Amino acid sequence: MSSARYWVYAAALAIYILNAWGAYVTLGGYGAGCGTGFGASWPLCNGTLFPALSHYPTLIEYLHRFLSVVTGLVILFAAIAAWRMKPRPQLSSRLMLLAIILVPIQVVIGGEVVGSGLSALIATTHFCFATAIFGIVTMAATLMYVDNKREGAAGGQPAPGQ
Ligand code: HEM
Repeated sequence: MSSARYWVYAAALAIYILNAWGAYVTLGGYGAGCGTGFGASWPLCNGTLFPALSHYPTLIEYLHRFLSVVTGLVILFAAIAAWRMKPRPQLSSRLMLLAIILVPIQVVIGGEVVGSGLSALIATTHFCFATAIFGIVTMAATLMYVDNKREGAAGGQPAPGQ
C-alpha cells in the first residue's frame, strides 16, 4: 500500500479548504486586508512579512496566503510521491504534475489581484485557476482511489493502465 495515495487525498482536501477560504476572503470583502497595490501589499502584507493580525481583514487575507503556501507544499509532495510510485500511475501522476505547474502561476495571479486593487477580471482569472487546480487534483485522487480498489479486488496485482 503506497503513502502516495494519502498525499494526493491530502492535497485534494487542502485545495478544497484553501478555495473555501478564498471565497470567504472575497465574499467577506477582506481582499484588501494586506492593503492593495504592489510592494507594501504584495509580496509583503501591510509593509511587512509578519503583520499584526489584530485587524480581522488582515488576519483573513494573511491566512489565505499562508494556506496557499501550505497547500502548494502538500501538492508538491503529493506529485513527487505519485511520480515515485512503482508502477507509476500514468494519468494521476501527470495530473499532479500539471497541478504543480499551475500552483505557482496561481500564486502570481493572486499577487496581481492585490496589485491591481482587486480588479474583477483578474480576480475572476484567480477563481478560474483555483477551480481548475481543484478539479485536476480531485481527478487524480479519484483515479488513485479507484485504482487501489481494483488492485484490492485483483488480489494485490497492479490495476492495468489508468
Ligand atoms: C494556490 C494558491 C491559491 C488558491 C487556490 C487561491 C484561491 C482563491 C479563491 C478560490 C478565491 C475566491 C475567488 C472568488 O470567490 O471569486 C481567492 C480569493 C482571493 N485570493 Fe487567492 N488563492 C491562492 C493564492 C493566493 C495568493 C498567493 C494571494 C496573494 C496575494 C491571493 C489573494 C487573493 C485575494 C486578494 C482574494 C480576494 C479577491 C477579491 O476580494 O476580489 N490568493 N483565492
